[in-house]
Amino acid sequence: MTENNLAIVVLAAGQGTRMKSRTPKVLHRIGGRTLVGHVLTTAQRLQATHVEVVVRHERDRVAASISETYPDVTIVDQDDVPGTGRAVQVALDALPADYEGDVLVLSGDVPLLDNDTLTALLDAHRSSGAAATLLSAILDDPTGYGRIIRDETGNVSRIVEQKDANEDEAAVGEINAGVYVFQASMLREYLPQVGMANAQGEMYLTDVIGLLRGAQKRISAAITNDLQVALGVNDRAQLAEAGDLLRRRIIRHWQREGVTIVDPASTWIDDDVTLAPDVTILPDTQLLGATTVAAGATIGPDTTLVDCEVGEDATVRRTDGTLAVIGARATVGPWSYLRPGTILGADGKIGTFVETKNTTIGEGSKVPHLSYVGDATIGRGVNLGAGAITANYDDIAKHRTEIGDEVHTGSHNVFVAPVSIGAGAKTGAGAVIRKDVPAGALALSVAPQRNVDGWVENNRQGTKAAAAAADARTSQKAADGRQEEDR
Ligand code: UD1
Ligand code: CA
Repeated sequence: MTENNLAIVVLAAGQGTRMKSRTPKVLHRIGGRTLVGHVLTTAQRLQATHVEVVVRHERDRVAASISETYPDVTIVDQDDVPGTGRAVQVALDALPADYEGDVLVLSGDVPLLDNDTLTALLDAHRSSGAAATLLSAILDDPTGYGRIIRDETGNVSRIVEQKDANEDEAAVGEINAGVYVFQASMLREYLPQVGMANAQGEMYLTDVIGLLRGAQKRISAAITNDLQVALGVNDRAQLAEAGDLLRRRIIRHWQREGVTIVDPASTWIDDDVTLAPDVTILPDTQLLGATTVAAGATIGPDTTLVDCEVGEDATVRRTDGTLAVIGARATVGPWSYLRPGTILGADGKIGTFVETKNTTIGEGSKVPHLSYVGDATIGRGVNLGAGAITANYDDIAKHRTEIGDEVHTGSHNVFVAPVSIGAGAKTGAGAVIRKDVPAGALALSVAPQRNVDGWVENNRQGTKAAAAAADARTSQKAADGRQEEDR
């Protein structure tokens, strides 16, 4: 069924001068994905026989970024001839010579185009039998876009770029979204006729529309009333605008799936995040990367999670976490810093001013206050006293701390790794644990307290401390004397 063949060409060879960036425009990100990545994610939902991306500016960087996430996409190199028309021409040349069917052209900088719009565009194209079908939108401010010029009967006759438009043309509000379906044979015939005599000295793909029309071919246009799908990102303002529109779209999606989002305006959720029903998101929260949150969990306020997994009914407040796993019903925060490799068991706790890294904390175990725990394996039912520090690095290598089930450690302990503490053991306050502790033992490393009377007055004469000590001693003596008299 040749009429249903579909090849997709994504244009990503331009520099994106208006971004004023070292990063190629199509690699700028919104919602955790590059601009061209959004286009390719949408493109992949259509059953295309070929998907090509045309690259040129920062070719290797753009190609590597695309191939990493979309390995099945064909990278096509544009040569020195500039313009979207040339980009499509090289893509066409890279298709099998006998390819017949539709060619869907997408712009790598139009990231919010959705599957429904594309499907409708393809359906319209196929049912009308047009040589080309384009997507247009009517904007209050069409500045920067190509304008759709229609004839007296309302048919599309050509597209004029902003820079080539006269006053009347520039006043037209209907714009070219940069999304088109062409019959492959029409591109083969008419692209070679496109010249470069225009304001930008480029081969415009848009000129094919005028050429087709001049040859009495049928052009059809689908007008979208969802203005965001046509938004092209040419500068940083449009990047932020697209990012915000995507943010709202993602939030609306999760709200409909049963997620409570208390303050949508301060909530950011990346495209690859997965949320279960009855998750609650409190203000100023960012859920990024491939984060997943299970049912009933509450995240925020003031929390950023990147590639984290949060279990059912867990609570995560004022926390910064990356590549961490938080078990069911566990509590994290406020003010916790979970670095990669943190795994907190069910019903566990990571509390206030605690940093963890590459550490497994067993079921029901707690690290409640003021601690650094790195490269550790902690069993079930453990309580680490306030101020626990794993000294995991000796300037040469990282070493592990192993803490068995039901261990309770005293406040302000240092665990000098490698070291292991057996199940059920205890440690005293202020202990520096350098040697393994057997199961059930009490480990004390601090010498018994000895008070040297009068030390300050003898050794710090003339200081405020010595004076205060002398005063205290005098009044103590007087009090002792009175007690003596009372007797
Ligand atoms: C283009 C359209 C314009 C439309 C707008 C929609 C043309 C001539 N103009 O303008 O009618 O309203 O998109 O967003 O097509 N690219 C290449 N090779 C090149 C030049 C560009 O692959 O030689 C790629 C860019 O990387 C980009 C896309 O094509 O992804 C569009 O290029 P851009 O320069 O942004 O075109 P616009 O001026 O926005
Ligand atoms: Ca553009």
